[in-house]
Amino acid sequence: MSTTRYRVGFVGAGGVATRHATVLAEFPDVAIAGVVDPNPEAARALADQAGATVEQSVDDLLALEVDAVYVCVPPFAHGQAETAVLAAGVPLFVEKPLGLDTELPAKLAAQVVAADVVTGVGFHWRYSAAVERARAALAGRPVSLVAGAWLDKVPPVGWWPRRDGSGGQLVEQAVHVVDLARVLAGEVAEVYAVADASPPDAPGADVDSSAAATLRFASGAVGTLSTTCRLGWKHRAALEVYADGVAVAISEDGCEVRTADGHQWHPVDPMDAKRAVDRAFLDAVGGDRSGVLVDYPDALRSHQLACALATSAAERRPVELETADV
Ligand SMILES: NC(=O)c1ccc[n+]([C@@H]2O[C@H](COP(=O)([O-])OP(=O)(O)OC[C@H]3O[C@@H](n4cnc5c(N)ncnc54)[C@H](O)[C@@H]3O)[C@@H](O)[C@H]2O)c1
Repeated sequence: MSTTRYRVGFVGAGGVATRHATVLAEFPDVAIAGVVDPNPEAARALADQAGATVEQSVDDLLALEVDAVYVCVPPFAHGQAETAVLAAGVPLFVEKPLGLDTELPAKLAAQVVAADVVTGVGFHWRYSAAVERARAALAGRPVSLVAGAWLDKVPPVGWWPRRDGSGGQLVEQAVHVVDLARVLAGEVAEVYAVADASPPDAPGADVDSSAAATLRFASGAVGTLSTTCRLGWKHRAALEVYADGVAVAISEDGCEVRTADGHQWHPVDPMDAKRAVDRAFLDAVGGDRSGVLVDYPDALRSHQLACALATSAAERRPVELETADV
């Protein structure tokens, strides 16, 4: 007897969609019904992997009466799918970043709130046990300093090295670390970023290779963020947090806590957070929203912060952010 409770549609059938589909295949109550992608080979490959049909449009996907839609398109391709899914009142999972700029995501966030649609966002670091360890270590000790880093290679997708494809590394990758900084140190009031204005060696590249930023938090804490895509490997993606008598470093594979009493390393399996973000979203589709740690409107705040960093670097000026609750 089938135990399927949730029929899911996919818009975008590339690398991250394939990862979500692999995770969803582990859940006995989930089936993928249909896949949309302008690249027919990608759509066919994911549909075959998932036992789904290839659909020609988001409307065709919605006509399958799916219970939820995953939008896993590149940064430049957001908008049309989300608008249609939200208009239909269907729960929506969106991969980060939410877009190339803040205008479209702000409109979509308003649509999410107005229609009270269940949403999930691919900020899976939030679901890591490493973050819980960090929170516990920092409990009762106000954060004084954060230091974030995303030191990596140019990802092997054609849209990434172009500003009009990815939005650049601050928006496309460092946003994970920026999101965690908000979680652990609160909202950011002002940023100032500088970039090298020297594109990496990749076809059509016009993104910066490296950037360095300072952040001033509303709490008074301060932070730094360093990014580069000049390496041939993923070197480090991490957030360090410092408070009275404690130093914490979070990465995808664990959390290191150091105090005057000693040093502890708490390893985690990076796949656990990637499973947890999908499970929490599907449970919310079923009516229990309590496990969703970051919904679309909250993700918008992290996206706005990443975009403020990118604007600061591009316009060579400090950028202030709205820190009041939305
Ligand atoms: N959270 C994470 O850990 C994580 C990991 C990888 C990628 N991502 C994010 O996921 C997004 C996609 O990354 P990817 O690695 O899968 O890229 P990809 O290039 O491998 O796949 C994107 C797919 O979307 C398709 N596409 C383009 N425009 C479309 C449209 N309008 N409608 C439907 N499909 C469309 C492309 O044809 C392609 O098959 C990016 O924003 C990336 O930042 C997140």
